Amino acid sequence: MVGDHGWKIHKKKHSGLVNMCRFFAFDSLIGFVLVLLVASRYKRICTEKKKVDLYSADLFTAMQVRRATMDDMYNMQHTNLRCLPENYNLRYYLYHILSWPQLLYVCEDMNKKTVGYVLGKMDDEEEAAKAHGHITSLAVLRTHRKLGVASAVMRATMREMDQEYEANFCSLHVRKTNEAALHLYQETLGFRCAEIDEKYYVDDEDAFHMKKYFRGNKQSSLFYVTEQKTLAKQAAAAVITPPTTSTHKDPVAAIAANTTPEAAKAAAAATAAKGSDKKGKGKK
Ligand SMILES: CC(C)(COP(=O)(O)OP(=O)(O)OC[C@H]1O[C@@H](n2cnc3c(N)ncnc32)[C@H](O)[C@@H]1OP(=O)(O)O)[C@@H](O)C(=O)NCCC(=O)NCCS
Repeated sequence: MVGDHGWKIHKKKHSGLVNMCRFFAFDSLIGFVLVLLVASRYKRICTEKKKVDLYSADLFTAMQVRRATMDDMYNMQHTNLRCLPENYNLRYYLYHILSWPQLLYVCEDMNKKTVGYVLGKMDDEEEAAKAHGHITSLAVLRTHRKLGVASAVMRATMREMDQEYEANFCSLHVRKTNEAALHLYQETLGFRCAEIDEKYYVDDEDAFHMKKYFRGNKQSSLFYVTEQKTLAKQAAAAVITPPTTSTHKDPVAAIAANTTPEAAKAAAAATAAKGSDKKGKGKK
């Protein structure tokens, strides 16, 4: 009895202890698993973030800007069809590459897919002083925009126009409402507007006829396109409105962007009265 009783008591004590141990073991196992889950989730988040950062950082370095070849013509046309309403038949691309092979550039991604192009040409003039290049078309796939692709292909073709063909300037047309292209040409590449060509496009939209001089001093005679899509004289603008709060990188552009044509005219008159040496002060 005693023995039995003792054994029973002992058994009861033992099973209570075991239960407690089991309970704590189970509890800590759950805790451990939870900790593992949280840790692995955290690690995955960190790895994904790192992957994304690496992707955007390496995207441009993995891309290649190079002169176009005959093999690129079809892909250029395809990119153009996906990006712009102004399209051309394949013969027009072939005409460009056969006539001015140095003025066509493409950008391709790491899989050798064409993601952007520029189609340039020379406008032959009888007088050497008037020889100039022209950008027929430029486009970058939506997936690869704002990575510097357009700037890179534009700079490459402009360098060829300048060095290979001794062009005096490069010209192009851009839609009045094309903010992205206007920013690229005016702020990033330093183009200025020569005139507004009214109803230039088939849908009657006006075009800014823009130019960038490689030599000489004619660049300063061009106009800056303001945010209101009016033209402002840079030199005059510099006299009247100091650049205070503008976000533009180019100080001359910043000054002109804050100026209306009326203000520009008034400033031009004021400048003329002050003498020709002061007139050139704000010029680029
Ligand atoms: C216009 C276009 C070619 C720009 O190509 P992109 O490769 O994105 O241009 P980049 O990355 O070289 O950017 C050049 C500058 O333009 C700015 N930019 C690009 N897209 C912009 C947008 N949507 N709005 C404002 N600025 C923009 C960039 O921030 C950069 O400015 P920064 O030099 O001050 O930093 C591209 O948007 C496109 O293919 N558009 C459709 C086709 C087209 O309009 N072609 C031009 C016809 S004239």
